[in-house]
Amino acid sequence: MAIISKAFFSPLSRLPGPWHARFTRLALKRSILTGKRMYYVHDLHAKYGPVVRIAPDEVAVADPEGVAQIHRIGSGFLKGPWYAGINNAPELGIFAMVNPKDHSQRRRLFAKAFSNTSLRQNWEPTIHEKVKLAVSKIKDDIQQKKEADMLKWWTLMATDLMANLSFGESFHMLEQGEKNQYVRVIESAMVTSGIGYELPWVYSILRRIPLNAVQVIVNSREFIIEYGGKAVDNMRQHGSGSQNLFGNMMAACEDSDKENFSDLSVRIEAANLLVAGSDTTANTLTYAVWCALKKPDLQRRLVAEVGALGSDYGDADLEKLPLLNAVIDETLRLYGAAPGALQRTVPRGGATFANHFVPEGTMIETQAYTSHRDPNIWADPLSFDETRFLDPSKLTKDQKQAFLPFGGGTRVCIGIHLARTELRLALAHFFRECPKAKLASTMTDTEMEMENFFLIAPRGHRCMITLE
Ligand code: HEM
Repeated sequence: MAIISKAFFSPLSRLPGPWHARFTRLALKRSILTGKRMYYVHDLHAKYGPVVRIAPDEVAVADPEGVAQIHRIGSGFLKGPWYAGINNAPELGIFAMVNPKDHSQRRRLFAKAFSNTSLRQNWEPTIHEKVKLAVSKIKDDIQQKKEADMLKWWTLMATDLMANLSFGESFHMLEQGEKNQYVRVIESAMVTSGIGYELPWVYSILRRIPLNAVQVIVNSREFIIEYGGKAVDNMRQHGSGSQNLFGNMMAACEDSDKENFSDLSVRIEAANLLVAGSDTTANTLTYAVWCALKKPDLQRRLVAEVGALGSDYGDADLEKLPLLNAVIDETLRLYGAAPGALQRTVPRGGATFANHFVPEGTMIETQAYTSHRDPNIWADPLSFDETRFLDPSKLTKDQKQAFLPFGGGTRVCIGIHLARTELRLALAHFFRECPKAKLASTMTDTEMEMENFFLIAPRGHRCMITLE
């Protein structure tokens, strides 16, 4: 009865969308489990317009004003149930927190450590060191095996760096050329919790399978929390001169009676940051190199721009390079790492988007994949054209509003400065050291098509390059 009433009599029944979305989220679920969610929703927008009912309780919005309204600071659109649903920890970390008071307290605690000033002062040398090691490994591979996998080396680099920041010690994966057990457990736990949200019965089946590899995933929560002890130990040993991000945060907490940051929270946030800051940056870097190598003239100009820097350049110099930053922004437009559903809940009183009323409590989502390809906002939206970003003062109001590779409002990515610093330092060093890089002849465009399991990754899970 409730299904019939929701399908035909709720205000949602007046929204455009496929007929089956009134009754079931099966089609949406299928797209999620096959890594095609952003494409599925994009096609629905193309067919039904900027406001689409995609499931009985779920609506997607691509109208630029609507997107801005949802992500505006203080908008009241809080994170939807998906975030807590995939949470694999005894309490919510900064990424999944819903309550605005809890979130703003945690965010305040993190803000200083993630500011541009603090990153440059405390972490730029470490980032540079990792970048140099990654590029030297890439060159070694090309010399010894004729080819190097960009995705592999950027992933090891970004993860080692996040380990330094979160745990206070490197995982030395760049040196070893492979991921360690903690990272492998976290990765499989993420996949399983994503699948488990859509198919909750999967967990009860997994629990009954007596294979060691399966039990490692089933017990991943305990393993991750246990391992997080390293972050706590390093934080405690070094205090505010700590070798990880949490030392200063804990010191700030101890000086204030308003803040609350337990050891358990540190363990959980260390894992959160590792996940949020590794594949995101690594995939973006991989796509940036791929896009530049696909356009030899762009590659030549980029090589010339970064080649003209003195040998002691730093991120403050890179920030001023128009082409380098334009290439990064255009990569983020077309291949931003989290371009799919950012789910929120419609606040009390409901909301209206492009003349469509959506009642309170509905799950609502926006996706950068669609906003970044809106032909009314971006000329020739599917082509990689870095010139759009060469002069940021020429971006239109709509473009500024629709460009959301890092999300928006109070939930905008906290790692935005860190990510941009890493992207700049890595691309500059790579194109200075490997000006003659080219795509390996075995690489196909199909391998670089994006799969979408919240984050994106190249379908082929590699990006092979060589030297001319
Ligand atoms: C190119 C790289 C990156 C991209 C494209 C990216 C993208 C995003 C996006 C779209 C969100 C918003 C998610 C939402 O609203 O549901 C987000 C949030 C977040 N990101 Fe990133 N991210 C990147 C790198 C990083 C790095 C390096 C860190 C390292 C710490 C990080 C940490 C976080 C955290 C903690 C949040 C949650 C913030 C909050 O809710 O207050 N990200 N990111």
